[in-house]
Amino acid sequence: MKNVLIKTTINGKQVELDVRPNMTLLDFLRDEMGLTGTKRGCEVGECGACTVLLNGQAVNSCLILVPQIDGQEILTVEGLAQGEKLHPLQESFLDHDAVHCGFCTPGMLISAKALLDHTPDPSEEETRVAISGNLCRCSGYQQIVDAIRETKHVGES
Ligand code: FES
Ligand code: FES
Repeated sequence: MKNVLIKTTINGKQVELDVRPNMTLLDFLRDEMGLTGTKRGCEVGECGACTVLLNGQAVNSCLILVPQIDGQEILTVEGLAQGEKLHPLQESFLDHDAVHCGFCTPGMLISAKALLDHTPDPSEEETRVAISGNLCRCSGYQQIVDAIRETKHVGES
């Protein structure tokens, strides 16, 4: 299979790479870009561990093929913090003990960002719906919901 040239923006940086067209965005991020914050869980769109933003929409990167991101913008969990300064969502997750083993956390943070970007003051139900595609095996949902709803100043990032 012939490689294709992909030009995309990842966490604000322009990237050009020659890749296999049947590679998933998840594999591209982890194996080609070294962005291992995006987690590999089920690889069939069930767990949400691989969630990233594609043009501001939360998507399962295991279900996206790399040609689909040509010319598009991707945000991964690595793009949330500004240098040493954590994103307000990350601060809030820490403040609320919403991180246990941490495997679901990158996907949760990205789904939460997608929610707060459009709904800065979500209800409990809106929050639960927004993370309904993200499974937490540590059962920390209440802390996660509280952390998202009590995130401050998210508009600054
Ligand atoms: S790894 Fe993509 S949804 Fe589970
Ligand atoms: S914190 Fe362990 S899977 Fe969610």
